[in-house]
Amino acid sequence: MAKYTEEINKRRTFAIISHPDAGKTTLTEKFLLYGGAINLAGSVKGKATARHAVSDWMEIEKERGISVTSSVLQFEYDGMCINILDTPGHQDFSEDTYRTLMAADSAVMVIDASKGVEAQTRKLFKVCGMRGIPIFTFINKMDRDANDTFELLDEIEKELGIATCPVNWPIGCGKAFKGVYDRQKDCIITYSDTEKGTKEGEATVIDMSDEAGVIAGIGQDKYDILKDEIELLDGASAEYDLAEVQSGKLTPVFFGSALTNFGVEIFLKYFLEMTTTPLPRKSKGELIDPVENEFSAFVFKIQANMNKAHRDRIAFMRICSGKFDAATEVKHVQGNKVMRLSQPQQIMADSRKILDEAYAGDIIGVFDPGIFSIGDTICMPKADILYEGIPTFAPEHFARVRQVDTMKRKQFVKGITQIAQEGAIQIFQEYNTGLEEIIVGVVGVLQFDVLKYRLESEYNVEIRLEPLPYEHIRWITNKDIDLDKLTGTSDMKKIKDLKDNPLLLFVNSWSVGMTLDRNPGLELSEFGTE
Ligand code: G4P
Repeated sequence: MAKYTEEINKRRTFAIISHPDAGKTTLTEKFLLYGGAINLAGSVKGKATARHAVSDWMEIEKERGISVTSSVLQFEYDGMCINILDTPGHQDFSEDTYRTLMAADSAVMVIDASKGVEAQTRKLFKVCGMRGIPIFTFINKMDRDANDTFELLDEIEKELGIATCPVNWPIGCGKAFKGVYDRQKDCIITYSDTEKGTKEGEATVIDMSDEAGVIAGIGQDKYDILKDEIELLDGASAEYDLAEVQSGKLTPVFFGSALTNFGVEIFLKYFLEMTTTPLPRKSKGELIDPVENEFSAFVFKIQANMNKAHRDRIAFMRICSGKFDAATEVKHVQGNKVMRLSQPQQIMADSRKILDEAYAGDIIGVFDPGIFSIGDTICMPKADILYEGIPTFAPEHFARVRQVDTMKRKQFVKGITQIAQEGAIQIFQEYNTGLEEIIVGVVGVLQFDVLKYRLESEYNVEIRLEPLPYEHIRWITNKDIDLDKLTGTSDMKKIKDLKDNPLLLFVNSWSVGMTLDRNPGLELSEFGTE
């Protein structure tokens, strides 16, 4: 057995994805109740707890009471060490939200039972799908009037293109939500009402063979409906298949209510059983086993100005293999430099803890003197590892940037280029001209404010942003296309990124399709590769 097998195999690292208000924060809080959090991070920032970020990051963060910085929440449950990655939502939705998913081994998708699949879930799902990581669905808010259960499953299958396999099934909904039926154990679990924020009050388990007991528990009507639904379900739904789940083709589905704590612990238990230990990552076409190899990690996020007094940058890395030991020298592969990682820490919104050690599956933040880039590999000095880069995700909002004082051209270009390198924004140029005209693309509109604020406060450059109507961007993946001969639509705009890669901007998705039709052989991608 390799040295750290036990430590590594007890890790579960996942992200929770959802549309704002579906209940991500509430569910996370309930997980913590069961786990007895050892480190409470800033992701739990629900209005009820008002635990939003108090880091001294940016004024914007304080003004708006949101967390721009991301965090990782670590806790232990049932002998496992769980890392939940925060995926910022709401207005702070940004490319970082996507990048965070690159560091997760699986995702929990929270869906509001009365809303079904919503826009942000769709986007996040797509990114998870690209990596083929396991996705577990928790259909939340069953204590409210919910959409028809079969229709919800149908919607997930059709909208997201993933097969569903209900692991449990709701008994009623709204005020009449009694609990869930466990398909694997063939029993029902009913709950007594619980106070907000407390552990599951009384969960009563009744075996289906005890018909009288079940009827006494949920009533004859609900029992009859449940029997019919189980029959239908057994005939219609996909079989549970762990391999299919782990390759992201099948999603186990659970029902419950995070608020009233119905079905949360049973979900957590099954999820932890079904999800994976830290997954191997690809380096030079080969998988690096997390247990068999010494320390290696990759940078998935860079956060500037975490502490205004120090103007520091923190590089977040996901440990992919082995054990991280703060006292040992490691190699930054892209920089070809052997060094000791400075101030390795666990980053939480309201505190940071210096770490001496961490294991594959964990996320650490290290002080970055400006040497790391997103996607960089860190490994032991003698190891030959180079992890595959992180794709660039399609921005959805665009603006032309002009500096107010044209004399400050140099600072402006320096500032905007640095901020782009950190990955907060993407910058593009007109196809035929140089840097005179800069177009900024962002995934979430808040990043425009972040850019403006940072250019002013860090580079002393004032800018004006002029919104552009484009919403879709595509990288041209085939190099042999003659861009001058491209026949697009009237709303199409040709641009290039800083590495001169050609891209196209479109106002609507119809134009994307039209342009593809008009130019046989043209290949467009929603993801750019570094
Ligand atoms: P998010 O992180 O996904 O954005 O969602 P969050 O947990 O903050 O939940 C959004 C709202 O939905 C909150 O109400 C929360 O209490 C409620 N909620 C979450 N889970 C459930 C559930 O299972 N059932 C019901 N009925 N409501 C749920 P709020 O009024 O916006 O905030 P609060 O004052 O209750 O905190």
